[in-house]
Amino acid sequence: MLKIHVLGAAAGGGFPQWNCNCLHCTAIRSGSPDYRARTQSSIVVSGNHTDWLLFNASPDILQQLRAFPALQPGRTLRDTAIRAIFLIDAQIDHTTGLYMLREHREPLQIWCHALVREDLTHGNPIFNLLRHYCGVQWHDVPLHGEGFAIPAVPGIGFDALPLISNAPPYSPHRDRPQPGDNVGVTLTDQQTGKKLFYAPGLGQMEPHVWAAMQAADCVLVDGTLWSDDEMIALGASRKTSRAMGHLPLSGPGGMLEWLEQLPRRTRKVLIHINNTNPILNERSPERQELTRRGIEVSYDGMEIEL
Ligand code: MLT
Ligand code: MN
Ligand code: ZN
Repeated sequence: MLKIHVLGAAAGGGFPQWNCNCLHCTAIRSGSPDYRARTQSSIVVSGNHTDWLLFNASPDILQQLRAFPALQPGRTLRDTAIRAIFLIDAQIDHTTGLYMLREHREPLQIWCHALVREDLTHGNPIFNLLRHYCGVQWHDVPLHGEGFAIPAVPGIGFDALPLISNAPPYSPHRDRPQPGDNVGVTLTDQQTGKKLFYAPGLGQMEPHVWAAMQAADCVLVDGTLWSDDEMIALGASRKTSRAMGHLPLSGPGGMLEWLEQLPRRTRKVLIHINNTNPILNERSPERQELTRRGIEVSYDGMEIEL
C-alpha cells in the first residue's frame, strides 16, 4: 500500500514565520487554539513501509526527521530509511535541508530535472559543496510521459510532468520559467494501481496537468495563497500569487474551481500553505468553505494511504 507522510505542510518561511507579524503568525505565537504550527514543504512516500523516498529537503528537515521515527530504523551505527531524494524544484525551501544530510555514509541519491541540477550547481551550488561531505549521485528525471522507477524505493511507478510555476529568485530562469524548473509527479502503487498526484508549486493549469489530476485517486496540490493579491494587500510583496508561481485558491480560474470539477471520489488535499493564508485558521470562513467542498488542508504528521 502506498503510504504518504507529510513532514512539512507550510510554504517557504514555515508557520509561524520567524519575522512575520501577520494576523496568523501573531495569533499562533500568542497561543491561539485555532491554529497549528507547520514546518516547510516536504513529504516522504513508501511502497513497502521500510524504504522511503524524500520529496524535497526542507530547512526544517532535522526537526521533521525527529518527529517521524520510521525514518530512523537503527540497523547499523549510522542509518536512515531515506533511500533516495526527489527534488521538484530548486527553491530554498525544498533544497537547503540537503546540507543537514551531509553525514550520510554514501552519496545522496538525488532525482531531479537537469535544470534543477543546473541551479544547484551554479546559482546555489549545494551539489558542489556536498562533494566535500557525502557527495551527490544525480539521476535525471524524464518528462513527457516516460514513466520511471526508483529502484531503491520499490513498488512505486513515477511519472513527472513539467509545470508552469517559477524558478528561484537566484536562478537565471526567474520569471522566465522553462519546462523542468518545476515538476509535478504522479506516483502509482504498482500493486493496487492507485495514484497520487503531487504538485506543491503549480502556477497555471495546463491540459497535461489537468489530465494527471483527473487520473489520480488523491491530489496533494498547491494551497500556498488564498487570493492572487494576498501578499500585495498585506504589503508583504509586490508579486501576485500567480507571478510567484502559485495558482491562488479563490477567484476565477483558482485552484478551488479546478478541484470542484474533479470526481467526488478523488481525495483533495492542499499543501505548501503560506503563513498569510486564512485557511490556516481552522475557524475561518475560508477554511469552512474548504470543508464544505470536501477539501482537506494537510498538516505536519498527516498520513495518507492509498
Ligand atoms: C516559493 O514556493 O515560491 C518559494 O519557495 C518561496 C521561498 O521559499 O522563498
Ligand atoms: Mn516553496
Ligand atoms: Zn505571517
